[in-house]
Amino acid sequence: MTPPKTPTSTPPMQLSLNTGGDELSLRAHLTPPVTPIGKPSGHDSLDQLEGGADASIVKQTITKPLRFIDDLKICRDADDIPIEFGRGVLSIVYKATSAPPAPPIGADTPPTSPAFSSRVLAAKIPLRRDARAALQAEALTLTRLNRTPGHDDHVIKFFGVEAATEALVMAAVPLDLSTYVEDQADLRKKNFSTATMFEPVMGMDSFSDLARKLIGGLAWLHNEAGLVHGDVKPLNILLRPIASDDCAHADADTGAFPYYPLYADFSSALDIPSDQEDINSKITDMYAVTVPFTAPEILKSLISGNVALSPASDVFSLAATLIACATGDMLLYPGDRRRRQLMACDGHQILEFTRNGANGARVSRNGLVEKLVKPAVVKDPSQRISAQDWVAFAAA
Ligand SMILES: Nc1ncnc2c1ncn2[C@@H]1O[C@H](COP(=O)(O)OP(=O)(O)OP(=O)(O)O)[C@@H](O)[C@H]1O
Ligand SMILES: [Mg+2]
Repeated sequence: MTPPKTPTSTPPMQLSLNTGGDELSLRAHLTPPVTPIGKPSGHDSLDQLEGGADASIVKQTITKPLRFIDDLKICRDADDIPIEFGRGVLSIVYKATSAPPAPPIGADTPPTSPAFSSRVLAAKIPLRRDARAALQAEALTLTRLNRTPGHDDHVIKFFGVEAATEALVMAAVPLDLSTYVEDQADLRKKNFSTATMFEPVMGMDSFSDLARKLIGGLAWLHNEAGLVHGDVKPLNILLRPIASDDCAHADADTGAFPYYPLYADFSSALDIPSDQEDINSKITDMYAVTVPFTAPEILKSLISGNVALSPASDVFSLAATLIACATGDMLLYPGDRRRRQLMACDGHQILEFTRNGANGARVSRNGLVEKLVKPAVVKDPSQRISAQDWVAFAAA
């Protein structure tokens, strides 16, 4: 893809630094919300859409998101507090259940199926008023993604928007990649062994399998769905367990990564423009980044005002994610916050920088991790490996 042109009508950009936690976010208020993207009308249920999907409908204009028509109930704990799966800068994600809509009074309908009413869901609700537009755009993106063949193994399942709460209703996948990797890192610390100190914290085979799945998922997003994710990082990747009766993964001794890593959180996603269309004109007004996982050209462009979001910036973010998965360190760079930010701006040197960290041995020089991520972190985005070529590279 050619680098985007400078926008002609970008308003002054406000950058705000959220210094509340170690994970730093920059938020840029840019041009109007993402152009709505495509779903034909007349479908209210995901089941109606599945099976009949074909690649040609992906590019159709979607103006309405899938609607969630069942009754949604947010789960509460013993103290009547809503149960959260997690929260981000934009939203809270609650645990929920659903049931078919109540029949009209007096109607003679059969009782609700117990299997149906016990379905556990995740309901993503805007945390702030100004997050509504971003979540509405995300609902359109999720609608389209869930109609693109192959979505099941790569992105979170979306059931629609519930009108009353404006919740984005998704399959519940309560484990994210960040938590999983940190748990693996803790286990390694407790059972330290010199035999495994040069390997990724989850072990080499599992890491390789995870990397292949994530790279394959990104290639699917870019090439099949025509989308830049815009915020690839471990917290935005959810892990759905592979069922034990799945033949391809049934053998526990293969060392395969035991989950489908699913891309989630499409609140920063953008259509990959056809032709030379300016991607900047499509950037959402709630475009967000998390510094350590953001491509250096994006960090620089946030300051200059010419945001260069592209498939190549996703490739960098996935490479950074894989390095974090190897070292177990979700901050990626060593040192204090200011130093880490400076290093992130020189992200093409991420391998050298992370090697200076406490777990640098896990990304050893000329080792598998370095070989895998090196072509994905080159400084010039136009020279970076594409997700599609990276698939073949990772398989070799
Ligand atoms: N389908 C789901 N099932 C279970 N938990 C989820 C689900 N979707 C999201 N979560 C949890 O909620 C958190 C916040 O969700 P999400 O990343 O979509 O929100 P956000 O406000 O857009 O985040 P960000 O700060 O990255 O912009 C996730 O990191 C994850 O822990
Ligand atoms: Mg998120």
